[in-house]
Amino acid sequence: MPSLCCHVSAPTPLLRAAKLLPMPRLLLSRKFAWNLLAVVGLLAACTVGTDHLTVTDDDIAVPPAATSESSSDTSPTFEPTPVPDSDPDSASESADDDPAIDSGSVGDIDPALDGGPGLGDRYYPGYGNGGYDVQSYELTIDWNHTDRAMDATAVIDLMPTQELARFNLDFVGLTVESVVVDGQDAAWDRSGRELAITPNATLRSDVPTQVTIDYSGEPDVLQSLGAPFSGGWTDLGETIVVVGEPEGAAGWYPVNEHPTDKATYSITLTTDSSLAVAANGIQTAKIVNGDGTTTWTYVTDDPQASYLTTLGIGDFVFHEGDPSRSGIPVRHWFHADKFEESVITMERTGQMIDAFESIFGPYPFDVYGSMVVDQDLGFALETQTLSVFGGDLVDQFATYEDIVAHELAHQWFGNHVSLGQWSDIWLNEGFATYSEYLWLEQIEPGYDIDADIRELHANLGFITGSPPGAPPADDLFNASVYIRGAFTLHALRLTIGDEAFFQTVAQWVEEFGGSWAVTSDFIQLSEEVSGQDLGAFFDTWLFAEGLPELPPA
Ligand code: TRP
Ligand code: ZN
Repeated sequence: MPSLCCHVSAPTPLLRAAKLLPMPRLLLSRKFAWNLLAVVGLLAACTVGTDHLTVTDDDIAVPPAATSESSSDTSPTFEPTPVPDSDPDSASESADDDPAIDSGSVGDIDPALDGGPGLGDRYYPGYGNGGYDVQSYELTIDWNHTDRAMDATAVIDLMPTQELARFNLDFVGLTVESVVVDGQDAAWDRSGRELAITPNATLRSDVPTQVTIDYSGEPDVLQSLGAPFSGGWTDLGETIVVVGEPEGAAGWYPVNEHPTDKATYSITLTTDSSLAVAANGIQTAKIVNGDGTTTWTYVTDDPQASYLTTLGIGDFVFHEGDPSRSGIPVRHWFHADKFEESVITMERTGQMIDAFESIFGPYPFDVYGSMVVDQDLGFALETQTLSVFGGDLVDQFATYEDIVAHELAHQWFGNHVSLGQWSDIWLNEGFATYSEYLWLEQIEPGYDIDADIRELHANLGFITGSPPGAPPADDLFNASVYIRGAFTLHALRLTIGDEAFFQTVAQWVEEFGGSWAVTSDFIQLSEEVSGQDLGAFFDTWLFAEGLPELPPA
């Protein structure tokens, strides 16, 4: 395949930009002719994809005026809007067959003591819930691979932030068997994505509470509100993989599904001993049981957003790569069918950690690696400490190494510094995309990042006209969010100079790591570090229609 080799040795920026977009099953397959066709495919995916949406206007809040967040001195304020019952044919239908749809009716609740079904996301008011913070999830799952069914228990430690006579979790499909709050049976009912729990006694503010939920059934993917694809617990035929950005976690465990409520995790999964199980964090136990099953335990001690929780079940082979110079272990799980290609594609992961640590600061977690599945997914996802890659993203030429850099960069941008609002998704994708080029700048002597970005800018105006700071609520991951998001960072670098730019980036991670931030925080920090008034700059780059010109080099 001479033409492929030629592209591998000299990947054009156009191709690189085309590769990084999450266009499930469409964009990244090799049967696409390179460059032109790939970009056309990308365009088609961007516009055609939305036809598959089953989202109604009720499910999504209308985006605010484009400039509402662009001023550096105003923190965004949000009015939590009441949440409509979402997706009537997911939860309630499966629940129809289930006599135990709720545990009995409860009396009226004082609204002041009801945490409520949302926590203030401007685009998706029903994501997450009010009135508490989750500290940890302990998930114990028995997985029957033949029946594709689970029997599970979630133990959720949470801290009420107010008095709570009732509070919600997000949970879709599956069957709730029982809900216990602080050792006492609790009443509960379900509607749409919401599981509303009425404990026996009102929870007191700032007194730790433990909620234990037994549940079972056959998990399924959820149609995303935020993007024209579905996600969550995904059955690939042989393999199970969890990829759920922005809101697929609720399809397999009860959760406060919003990145502003990060928590630690412990995942214990028992299944047939012929299967391997991979998950986020550190493997702390693997016990071979007497009955032909094996129990695997993984622990994540760093706070993690729910959409970054992953799990793989299948014919995965463990592969330990070279650690970073700083000693971060690199632990991969490659599907047996993709093993050789995966080893080659992920070869420089440790070096990438070195490169990014030198500009972003220390790698924020205790381990990193990639999980490569057998199926062609056409995308990757930055699941915390263990990014997931479709089988089509690995080959013997490491063609998609820039996507490896992209997902690794997300560990700082998106995972360590989380989104306060989903509408700020450019903070994740713009940084991860620009980081692909920062990696090349670190590793390739003489690489001219400015020339590369300028070439992209000259060629991709037709997909970067829309403002990345205010993406459509049903198409969060559009091309402009990625590519113009990256242009914005390059333009900022040209405007304030390398020193101020890299100081801003490092300080961003330092200040907001472990927590979350919004666009106005980034604007404010850039202004503080550079001493410049950047209001007009960010208005133009993030919130105005039409791709701005790049500043001179
Ligand atoms: N964040 C992913 C990336 O760019 C893209 C993505 C968004 C995704 N939603 C997803 C991938 C759901 C898989 C499933 O790296
Ligand atoms: Zn990304």
